[in-house]
Amino acid sequence: MTHENYIEIMNIPHSQPSLGQKEAEAAGRVIMSAYIAQGKEVFRFEQAMAARIGVPCAVSTSSGTAALHLTLLAMGIGPGDQVIIPSYVCTSLLHAVNYTGAEAVLAEIIPETYNMSPEDVEKKISPRSKAIILPHMFGAAADTEAFLSFNIPLVEDCAQSLGGMQKGKMLGSIAHAAVFSFYANKVITTGEGGMVLSRSEDLTARIRDLRDYDNKAGYKIRYNYKMTDIQAAVGLVQLQRLDEFTARRKNIAEQYYQYLNNARSADAGIRLPHSDPGRIYYRFPVEIGKNADDLIRNMQKQGIACPRPVHCPLHRCLEQDAFPQTEKIWKNTVSLPIYPKLSDAEVRYTAEMLMKSAAFL
Ligand SMILES: Cc1ncc(COP(=O)(O)O)c(C=O)c1O
Repeated sequence: MTHENYIEIMNIPHSQPSLGQKEAEAAGRVIMSAYIAQGKEVFRFEQAMAARIGVPCAVSTSSGTAALHLTLLAMGIGPGDQVIIPSYVCTSLLHAVNYTGAEAVLAEIIPETYNMSPEDVEKKISPRSKAIILPHMFGAAADTEAFLSFNIPLVEDCAQSLGGMQKGKMLGSIAHAAVFSFYANKVITTGEGGMVLSRSEDLTARIRDLRDYDNKAGYKIRYNYKMTDIQAAVGLVQLQRLDEFTARRKNIAEQYYQYLNNARSADAGIRLPHSDPGRIYYRFPVEIGKNADDLIRNMQKQGIACPRPVHCPLHRCLEQDAFPQTEKIWKNTVSLPIYPKLSDAEVRYTAEMLMKSAAFL
């Protein structure tokens, strides 16, 4: 390699949390208080999330999956029922439905937005449909109004969209209930963790009861799905930093658009995510017009982790076919690194390597 075309190979992970001194102090303060299980910090975190999203009730859980599971149980869903979910999403949703004994019915996505298609869902509604789980994929709002019009309990899945908006409303405040995840790669993190938000006091009271098995009058199946005060104290600090995080993510997305929105990338078959103004950039999915296997490998050689944003679509997990849109998007789409700690130089390097790899392959 000559001196002119030598570029130092960087090492860029796909995701990284943004945790600092304030989070360490908050966790340390709880540890030193010697009350570390679910307590007043969890209560404060629930109150802060409810205020931020603009709904009255919030119940924290040990994960987003636990939040989904308890929401479905509190909606009375069980064996014999069906729950509609997209195929293009992580397996958490399928697990949550299966835990209840209900059947997951999969729906296609709209390729332009990566969100579930209301037209396909309408075709799949049956008398057994008892809920729809609607993720706002990669941070961009799905068509919540269209799904509400089906008059089936609707759960917004905001695991990827905390801070996003739709028509002036916060995502998570629109449907019957909403779930959030605070896993390590999410917009804000508590390591592991989740929450359910809702306007329904009845629903959240049932979830509150189900998440903790101990000291109850009468026995029924309950769970240990609690968040700890250590996690909640970290979550409170992270929530105060949410605007800072979403602003930096947006700034990185703008840089990607600047580098990649041109004739060269169009020639290479690159399609960038849609830039709906209310969205947040949890992920920056890029469709490359062909199977992404070679590109992912090539980027890895350049030190950049850009896997498919969905590891395996659910129709593949369930060995179903007839999901042509999801199948094509899944095969051809990669997720570029986007997180507050990513430097401008790393963004530029990633965009350059993507252009080179896409044009070369
Ligand atoms: C859309 C969506 N829903 C739910 C979850 C589950 O969250 P958790 O990992 O906290 O269980 C995830 C996690 O990646 C997700 O992306």
